[in-house]
Amino acid sequence: MALHCPSFKVDSPNVVYTDTHIEASYDYHTTELSQAADGDWVVKPKTVQYHFKTDKRVPKLGVMLIGWGGNNGTTVTAGILANKHGVSWETKEGLQHPNYYGSVTQASVVRLGNVDGKEVYAPMNKVVPMVDPNDVVLGGWDISGLDMYSAMKRAKVLPSDLQSKLKSMMQQMTPLPGIYDPGFIAANQEDRADNVLPRSMSKREQIDRIRDDIRKFKEANGCDQIVVLWTANTERYAEIVAGVNTTKTELMASIMRNEPEIAPSTLYCIACIEEGVPFVNGSPQNTYVPGLKELAESVPGSVIAGDDFKSGQTKMKSVLVDFLIGAGLKPTSIVSYNHLGNNDGKNLSAPQCFRSKEISKSDVVNDMVHSNALLYKKGEHPDHCVVIKYVPAVGDSKRAMDEYTSSIFMNGLNTIVMHNTCEDSLLAAPLIIDLVLLAELVTRIKLAKDGEDLRGMHPFAVILSYLTKAPLVPDGTPCINSLAKQRAMLENVLKACVGLPPDNNMLLEFNWTIPR
Ligand SMILES: NC(=O)c1ccc[n+]([C@@H]2O[C@H](COP(=O)([O-])OP(=O)(O)OC[C@H]3O[C@@H](n4cnc5c(N)ncnc54)[C@H](O)[C@@H]3O)[C@@H](O)[C@H]2O)c1
Repeated sequence: MALHCPSFKVDSPNVVYTDTHIEASYDYHTTELSQAADGDWVVKPKTVQYHFKTDKRVPKLGVMLIGWGGNNGTTVTAGILANKHGVSWETKEGLQHPNYYGSVTQASVVRLGNVDGKEVYAPMNKVVPMVDPNDVVLGGWDISGLDMYSAMKRAKVLPSDLQSKLKSMMQQMTPLPGIYDPGFIAANQEDRADNVLPRSMSKREQIDRIRDDIRKFKEANGCDQIVVLWTANTERYAEIVAGVNTTKTELMASIMRNEPEIAPSTLYCIACIEEGVPFVNGSPQNTYVPGLKELAESVPGSVIAGDDFKSGQTKMKSVLVDFLIGAGLKPTSIVSYNHLGNNDGKNLSAPQCFRSKEISKSDVVNDMVHSNALLYKKGEHPDHCVVIKYVPAVGDSKRAMDEYTSSIFMNGLNTIVMHNTCEDSLLAAPLIIDLVLLAELVTRIKLAKDGEDLRGMHPFAVILSYLTKAPLVPDGTPCINSLAKQRAMLENVLKACVGLPPDNNMLLEFNWTIPR
């Protein structure tokens, strides 16, 4: 039997709680590696002193979604409203009550330790103060002008009784006009693009308009902080061209001369960086062209994260391949087939938009494959194939079918076949909640190494990796896709903020007790 600890405070000489902050001195145990000329490796354990300072003052948070009127945007909005107002609804299964299942911050727990042989767990969102999703103010942009009730009906994700109960609230919500560039999303989206900024506006004017929207929304709703998240259609990849977007200077000059190869998502992100607002990319396209990354790194306080929600098939993949390779089995082919019938699927039926998704999905096993040189020779990789088809009849109930074939003991073969009915938007909506809450939290954490000055975390919010398929990481740093490692990073950084060590799972206090 485990015990639930609803909230806690750390009692340690290394941790100080003030009215405004939690300060923690933290021993980070790591290693230093070197390889001698004869090829022998030497590993030295090393301890680095960090100081974490977390602002306890939780802001009133405004969340502005780009693609607010889409399946994800309407589902997350309806879900938050239903939770906030305690709205229940009838289905053929009986009365249903809202929850935040699928949100790692709202519905998962972290282990604190053990009392009298019983494990003790606390909610993840109680380790450090976090925004309550019921308190966020929602808004955003969409190139389709439907009000949020009509857009929710169009999405066909939530049961009709719940839709009816939310009608009066959602009917009053309408998206702001979005930046529309038909060159970047599928031509089949054109018929819904009735709420767009005038094509006569220059790219600089579009950025300024988005900045203005953010400021007005913040002021009108009395928000202390805004987070912006892209859950709009997958764009095609922007070409990376010298003179256009490979440096910050090139990118800003390209905007001034209305260069066509700058995607709407990049323009929204620039507006956010200039406005000091975190930006999260929930889709696979390369919004973060090199010039944009350089811009984010050069503006103090920037927070950007992405790419592409890790909700269904890829989440399973980053668990299953980790398990196989961790068990010493050798995946030799991973074949993933999807069909879906929502507007995302319709947009992805355009080859150039599908290509963005294919790239984002294809690298997700690299860290696991590259980690094990006993199984894979240099340059060797499992065959990895991803297919996506648009089948309108299945709507938002995306089917993901995967076949994992692995080489096992004495070159036998093991084949695992999986069928996953994903329920796309019901899986993505809680990730959107986690992403915006964690992006806000990142702005309140400062840290210092070995007595240096306190600084914010790196502008690329790697701590959000758990929620994304293709995590954005600084150049030259490891990109981790394994879900267990990503979750451990998130949990352990939160714990470090209150001076708690990572869970080492050794259970020495029990396993060292020899029965007499
Ligand atoms: N499980 C998931 O649902 C999941 C997982 C990973 C990634 N994604 C990505 O999330 C995105 C959204 O998925 P969805 O199912 O909600 O799609 P959707 O098509 O239902 O919604 C997208 C919305 O974006 C709007 N839009 C398009 N371009 C815009 C722009 N430039 N500015 C403002 N609005 C714009 C569209 O009108 C539409 O309402 C897709 O790119 C999808 O690939 C979804």
